[in-house]
Amino acid sequence: MSVLPQPDLVAATQSQHLLHSIIQSIHAASGKISFAEFMQRALYTPQLGYYSSSLRKFGKSGDFVTAPEISPLFSQCLARQCQQVLSQLERGVILEFGAGSGIMAAELLKELQLLDSLPREYWILELSADLQQQQHETLQQHVPNFINQIHWLAELPQQAFDGIILANEVLDAMPVERFRVANGEIQQCYVTALEGQLNYQFAPNSSELFNAVHILQLEFPDGYESEINLALASWIKSLAEILNKGLILLIDYGFPQHEYYHEQRQQGTLMCHYRHQSHPDPLILLGLQDITAHVNFTAVAQAAVAANLDVAGYTNQANFLLATGLLDKLSTCSPDDPHFFRLSQQAKMLTLPSEMGELFKVMALTANFDQSLLGFVRDERGRL
Ligand SMILES: C[S@@+](CC[C@H](N)C(=O)[O-])C[C@H]1O[C@@H](n2cnc3c(N)ncnc32)[C@H](O)[C@@H]1O
Repeated sequence: MSVLPQPDLVAATQSQHLLHSIIQSIHAASGKISFAEFMQRALYTPQLGYYSSSLRKFGKSGDFVTAPEISPLFSQCLARQCQQVLSQLERGVILEFGAGSGIMAAELLKELQLLDSLPREYWILELSADLQQQQHETLQQHVPNFINQIHWLAELPQQAFDGIILANEVLDAMPVERFRVANGEIQQCYVTALEGQLNYQFAPNSSELFNAVHILQLEFPDGYESEINLALASWIKSLAEILNKGLILLIDYGFPQHEYYHEQRQQGTLMCHYRHQSHPDPLILLGLQDITAHVNFTAVAQAAVAANLDVAGYTNQANFLLATGLLDKLSTCSPDDPHFFRLSQQAKMLTLPSEMGELFKVMALTANFDQSLLGFVRDERGRL
């Protein structure tokens, strides 16, 4: 690991406050908390957690760049998929989870406006008050004439609706449990505190973790470590319960299960991002760095089927963007246009296998919607 940049004094102080608050919760829980609880606190403690604080996260001056931050082409392609579904619904709405800087919503709505396919309303479910503020500013600037139809929700709507649910890079930011295999036994990872420092402790696992790992029916070699998202099935079920008719589109980095738990992936997929550097230590830079795990898309599909949703499509980001008109969009810009070079570089970042094209996947889950979806011409559900 190369040397990570030092946080400034304000950030370091904030991080110390979060450390103290996590240590207090560890003491209150008789000396250890599960890794998922640690991750929840590191990312979402009000004011101090990574996603709850006002530190800049996205873009060049932040810690990482997501697809909608790279290029408007991403959201414009997504708009084509949304248009197809909205055209089949009466007064459909869009609900976006974890909307980041708000740029995806802004570009998507601009494109839907051009396509004359605006949703009735656009709802954003955002856990961070600071990001809500940023999103409002972005949307006010980009789509001022639609701003009154954009609403921020604190929780899922009470009433089921027809529409589209979008989540780009949200699943990877959900807390996961970590486990390790020792002498053929599954051990759960806990976080403990000693003399003001956080440490790991691997101990006999909870029955919930044991059952979830057991159901995978996989043989892990000794020393193998990985993650599992125990909250995934209930999250998918909650989405199924509020979607009457329409589409759930999940975009994230991840693999089908046989690749996720491949015997060569001995250290799992947990990764931290700080100032555009990636490293595997979540116990440092508390509240200042992102902590993520890849998504097991087979588990997402299984949870969807259990919740009576249809798994309507699964493909990689490159296939999805090409099927939803990436090249058409690019060709509307003349090669003589000064923007053309920049746009084509962005298109490469979104689609090349060595960049985001293959690692990122798009999964479509539908409720009472039978049409084949535009973005899934090259469907890879067979790999799940
Ligand atoms: C990596 S950021 C992605 C932001 C944005 N979607 C983008 O693509 O730029 C992850 C986002 O997911 C949000 N998130 C994670 N779990 C969530 C949940 N259960 N409900 C709503 N948002 C959630 C976080 O608050 C954060 O805004």
